[in-house]
Amino acid sequence: MKTEEIIELTSQYIIPSYRRIPVAFKEGRGIRLWDMEGKEYLDLIAGLAVNSLGYGHPKLIQTINEQAKLLIHTSNLFHIQPQVELAEKLSKLSLGGKVFFCNSGAEANEAAIKLTRRFGSQNGRYEIITMTGSFHGRTLTTIAATAQRKYQQGFEPLPEGFKYAVFNDLDSVKDLVAPTTCAIMTEVIQGEGGVNVGREDFIVGLRQVCDQYNLLLIMDEVQTGMARTGRMFVYEHYGITPDIITLAKGLAGGIPIGAMVAKRKISELLGPGTHASTFGGNFLSSRAALATLEVILGEDLIEKAQRLGNYLMERLTGLKGRYSFIKEVRGKGLMVGLELEIPGEKIVEKCFRRGLLINCTVEKVLRFLPPLTISKEEIDEAIQILDQAFREVKEE
Ligand SMILES: Cc1ncc(COP(=O)(O)O)c(C=O)c1O
Repeated sequence: MKTEEIIELTSQYIIPSYRRIPVAFKEGRGIRLWDMEGKEYLDLIAGLAVNSLGYGHPKLIQTINEQAKLLIHTSNLFHIQPQVELAEKLSKLSLGGKVFFCNSGAEANEAAIKLTRRFGSQNGRYEIITMTGSFHGRTLTTIAATAQRKYQQGFEPLPEGFKYAVFNDLDSVKDLVAPTTCAIMTEVIQGEGGVNVGREDFIVGLRQVCDQYNLLLIMDEVQTGMARTGRMFVYEHYGITPDIITLAKGLAGGIPIGAMVAKRKISELLGPGTHASTFGGNFLSSRAALATLEVILGEDLIEKAQRLGNYLMERLTGLKGRYSFIKEVRGKGLMVGLELEIPGEKIVEKCFRRGLLINCTVEKVLRFLPPLTISKEEIDEAIQILDQAFREVKEE
């Protein structure tokens, strides 16, 4: 098929809930994609922080092939060996607790919210404090948790039980704590919200508030988890431990999976029959996640994300001196944002035409989420294209 035909069929048969760039890809290798007409692109979006190993990683491909031949799915009516192997690994790498598997970030957050309701219901509490600029998914409950009106409008009435504090303002959180509060839920770096990095005093302060009032601290690691920020989980940068983390995106290198890890004591609150997901943690997705984890650890991708993330930020900061419309470069590891004084869509479009894929969020923040396997030379290549795009905008 040609790109044009695919675009036409999209308009005929796909519910138009996405704004799409007019391209369809056929093939990928490393951090490069090729479209239907054979044009090459350097990909610094990685399926929105999903394809952490890049495209066609031999270990992931081999594992998926082997597992598909053996068994793809049985349901959670039965025990599943790769699921328990994965749970053990995630538990030991993070909170030392137990894991619930599902298929997406929103579903992982939904599980965290349900577990929190069970925790609070022991003493009549149900409210969760979330942050302005947050993003927790698109189900009805997760848009209620997401403190951004644009995701909620037209879908009211929303589920109750969320109060919104200001991200990076601890006093605004403290002001909202009430006898009905049972948890604080936050991203540590807000991705969709504009790559806003949680300040040390804020993140550490949230832990203290939770300890003081016996609240659960839920950290949404859907975008930041699995080595993206130069640690396996972003909270490790802050020397604190949350009570619940949620994961998805980079967990299985592109095979859909979500997970909630909860500290052991609270994890027992979701007993048999209280929560479920048909596909959650099936053979194929669990095996793909195990292979992804093996590559992350075996190829030192945590250290690489830190090192190359620093390099990417250094190169972007270098551009800042030359273009007055660049406001700030921020992020951790390979989750990087460049805030502009001008709309970012124009830049995204110009990069796209030159074969570079980047993303823009909250209108003015260019977001870089490359595969963790990216090299220094590939970063240089991307910076060169970005530089050309910036120069063109400057000259317009
Ligand atoms: C922090 C965060 N939480 C939750 C989600 C929702 O994940 P999903 O789209 O897999 O439901 C996202 C997606 O961008 C996210 O960035």
